[in-house]
Amino acid sequence: MKNALEQIRQKAVSELAQAHDLKQLDALRVQYLGKKGELTAILKQMGGLSAEERPVVGQLANEIRSFIENHIDTRSAELKEEMTLQKLRDERLDVTMPGTLRPIGKKHPLTLVLDEVKEIFLGMGFDVAQGPEVEYDYYNFEALNIPKDHPARDTQDTFYITDNILLRTQTSPVQVRVMEQKKPPIRIISPGRVYRSDAVDATHSPLFHQIEGLVVDKGVTMADLKGTLEIFVKRLYGEESVVRFRPHHFPFTEPSAEMDCMCFACHGEGCRLCKGEGWIEILGCGMVHPKVLENCGIDPEEYSGFAFGMGLERIVMRRFGIDDLRLFYENDLRFLNQF
Ligand code: FA5
Ligand code: MG
Repeated sequence: MKNALEQIRQKAVSELAQAHDLKQLDALRVQYLGKKGELTAILKQMGGLSAEERPVVGQLANEIRSFIENHIDTRSAELKEEMTLQKLRDERLDVTMPGTLRPIGKKHPLTLVLDEVKEIFLGMGFDVAQGPEVEYDYYNFEALNIPKDHPARDTQDTFYITDNILLRTQTSPVQVRVMEQKKPPIRIISPGRVYRSDAVDATHSPLFHQIEGLVVDKGVTMADLKGTLEIFVKRLYGEESVVRFRPHHFPFTEPSAEMDCMCFACHGEGCRLCKGEGWIEILGCGMVHPKVLENCGIDPEEYSGFAFGMGLERIVMRRFGIDDLRLFYENDLRFLNQF
């Protein structure tokens, strides 16, 4: 029996050393010391011992019981300590580690500059108006004093949907829509997409953006037009920027002009970008034609107005020194991430 007890002690020591969590430890406690445990099982056989042997074996059994209890307590303390350390290791936070970079979208350069342009005109008392991209021939041409057989239709190569419906070639139809709805004083800009079947090059795209401007009131003159556009250009590009007005023709304005910016790539010398001219056309403008006012139910004897239409792409190119408009539409992140 003594042997059996000693074997239990040794078995317990090695098994306890291998227990690696508190649950296993508890199971071992039951296995050795529980009511149906190994030690108890041996003690139950003590009845068969002689009177001399009984106290000796009893003492040994008690000693082994407290020996195993001590061992369990020690091992339990060790395991708790290990668990605490493990928890600290798992939850360790290295505040010097670089964070995970989440990709963040940004505004497209066209949107960035459009926001600036809107801000400038809002500051001068303009509202923002909207019009449809799929437009009636009437608004895109007819009401703007461009009848069906008018040669000006050839200068804006049009995508037709039906005989009477087209993709607008300019934002000028919004002028008509606004004047039909609202009586003077009118002061609006209208940015949006326009379409022309133009060949693609550094300054032309079949889809581009214009920003229309329209002011109608009593006593509006060409001086107001020039003053407004000059203030606009200087606010956008800085005081030192150089523009020029050239006489031009639009069927819906009289007189008409085009405004150029000195080429920002060659500063007037002539280069690929400006096709050797030294200047880049930014916008068309003029005094609203009396016939257009009449078409919209506004009396040209009482009111006058000016209008302009600028190409957003050209303006953004000038703003950031970009020498090819195609970059706006290629979605190359190496380009877009620079803004
Ligand atoms: C017009 O579209 C007139 N509606 C502008 C206007 C409005 C005149 C109000 C008078 C009163 P034009 O076709 O020139 O004009 O175009 C205006 C501007 O759009 C040009 O100055 C240019 O900056 C830009 N533009 C024209 N075609 C393209 C194109 N294919 N790609 C990029 N920009 C273009
Ligand atoms: Mg033009």
